[in-house]
Amino acid sequence: MPESSRSDAQGRSASYRIEDLDAEAELRRLEAQVRLVVPVEHRVLKEIGVRPESTFVDIGCGPGFFAERAARELLDSGARGGRVIGVDVDEKLIWLARKRAEGLNLPLEYVVGAGAEIPLADNIADITYARFLFQHLEHPLVVLAEMMRVTRPGGLVAIVDTDDGSLLMHPEPVGFRRLVDASGAAQMARGGDRRVGRKLKRYLAATGLEDTSARVHPFTTEELGVGPFLEITVGFKAGVLRPPFITADEIEETVTDLELVRETPGFFGHALGYLAWGRKPS
Ligand SMILES: C[S@@+](CC[C@H](N)C(=O)[O-])C[C@H]1O[C@@H](n2cnc3c(N)ncnc32)[C@H](O)[C@@H]1O
Repeated sequence: MPESSRSDAQGRSASYRIEDLDAEAELRRLEAQVRLVVPVEHRVLKEIGVRPESTFVDIGCGPGFFAERAARELLDSGARGGRVIGVDVDEKLIWLARKRAEGLNLPLEYVVGAGAEIPLADNIADITYARFLFQHLEHPLVVLAEMMRVTRPGGLVAIVDTDDGSLLMHPEPVGFRRLVDASGAAQMARGGDRRVGRKLKRYLAATGLEDTSARVHPFTTEELGVGPFLEITVGFKAGVLRPPFITADEIEETVTDLELVRETPGFFGHALGYLAWGRKPS
């Protein structure tokens, strides 16, 4: 598919295709991201109204790392009738998610489908959720309208994502800003948006959701450790960086310096996670 074509016939966003990445490393990164972010996420989700009896729809669920944890921990393994429905446009990832779920005996099912045409009935979800999907969407409001359609009146629509504006390090590796800008430009050329975090609340309000709210949570090298912090904040960038946005020499310069500065005593990194939500009018 040419670089200019931003989604394929199935509706897969060009900004995220696992086959363009080192798939093994990307699966490791997604799993680490779930492990590190889930404690905060679950706390906020309970606070805003997710209950063990909820029907929880996870759009862009990927290989299901989050969906599994939600089914087990948020929905108490289905003891009170709750269930998770994971939806992803990538058939291979849904295959993997189903395979992982085999034998787990969790209230969990997976469906192949695009966010712009969710293959679920109207009003079936108590909460419709999307994690790290919106940074890959060329038409976020179309997907949000679909998320709202499948959510029951009075139910929740919530999004978690990132924003490169909040990614800071000290000492900063040589050319780090150039690398961040280049990966953002490369993702934007494929229809993505690495500055989506700050826009989420406005997107929810523009879709007609009520009582919209947004929260940020800091993730730093202090609590995550330097290796995991870099894996989840810089790992994906490595996969999307390419000419003409940056040269191989420029990438090499920053990566080499990053290897040095991460060993600096007192090295500190900081990023924010953005969680925004709103309620479908009753
Ligand atoms: C960065 S991954 C996040 C996976 C998962 N939500 C998580 O947090 O681990 C983005 C996911 O969105 C899916 N995706 C991309 N474009 C999509 C679309 N238009 N509709 C549905 N899923 C999409 C990808 O296949 C991928 O699984």
